[in-house]
Amino acid sequence: MPLTIRDLQNYKHQGRIITALTAWDALSGAWVEASGCDVALVGDSLAMVSLGHATTLPISLEAMVHHTQAVGRSIQRPLLVADLPFLSYQCGAEQAVAAAGRFLKETPCQAVKLEGAEPETMAVINRLVRTGIPVMGHLGLTPQSVHCLGWGRQARSAPAQEQLRQKALDLQQQGCFALVLEHVPAVLASELRRELKIPVLGIGAGPDCDGQILVTADLLGLTPSQPPFAKPRLQGATMFKQALQDWCHEQRHQEQTTPPPTASNPPTPGC
Ligand code: KIV
Repeated sequence: MPLTIRDLQNYKHQGRIITALTAWDALSGAWVEASGCDVALVGDSLAMVSLGHATTLPISLEAMVHHTQAVGRSIQRPLLVADLPFLSYQCGAEQAVAAAGRFLKETPCQAVKLEGAEPETMAVINRLVRTGIPVMGHLGLTPQSVHCLGWGRQARSAPAQEQLRQKALDLQQQGCFALVLEHVPAVLASELRRELKIPVLGIGAGPDCDGQILVTADLLGLTPSQPPFAKPRLQGATMFKQALQDWCHEQRHQEQTTPPPTASNPPTPGC
C-alpha cells in the first residue's frame, strides 16, 4: 500500500524524519523505491537532469505526465507526487484543475507540487484542494522563477524572511499538506518547522526540518553541475562513463575468435 498524505503528517507529529527523492523514469523510480524513502517526486528538475534543458521552464505538461507514468510503473510504497510544470497553473484555476487532474487520472500520482504563494497561486491552491487534489507547496528558491530570483540562496534579509514566513502560513491555511523549502537559511527553516502543523521538507535548508528532499541525480553524482547544498554520495557519472569506456575498449581489443570476413570468406547472408 502506498503511503498517504495522512501518513506524512503523522510522521511529523511522531518526530519521524520524512525522506523524499526525485525520479524521472522507470529506472530511477526503481532506485527510489529500493531506497525505502517516503516520497517519490517527479520533479520538473527532470527538464534539466534528463532532458538537457538549462532551466525547468521548457518542460510541457504532456512530458511531465509521460515521465510520471514511467516513474509510476516502479513506485509502490512512497507517496508519488508530480510537479505542475511552468504555465500549467499560473494562467488560472480552471486550467490548473485540468492540468493537475491529468496527473491523478492518467498516472498513479497522489498529489501535485507547485511553486510560490502569490495571491493568484493561493486561489489556484484553494481550488485544487477543494476539487480533492492534494497540493504540496514550494517556497524559497523556486526554479520556475529563476529569471527573477536567480539560483542563489533566498530570504537572506529579515524582511524577506518575514515575507516567506507569512507565505508559508498562508499555504498551510489554503490547505497545502506539506511544504518544500529550498535554499533558505537553516534558522528560518527550523523556525518554520516549529510554527507549521504541516511537514516542512528542506533542500539546502539545513538539518532541522521534518524531512529532507533531494534530486536523486545530484545525490548520485550524475549531474554535470551540483548545487552547493547537494553533496554527491558517489561519482556516478564518472563511474558510468568509465564502465562504458572499458567495455568499448575491451570489445576493440579482445582476441578475435573468428577470422574477419574477407573477399574469399564473405559473411554468411542473413547472419
Ligand atoms: O523539481 C525538483 O526536483 C524539485 C526539488 C525541490 C526536489 O522541486
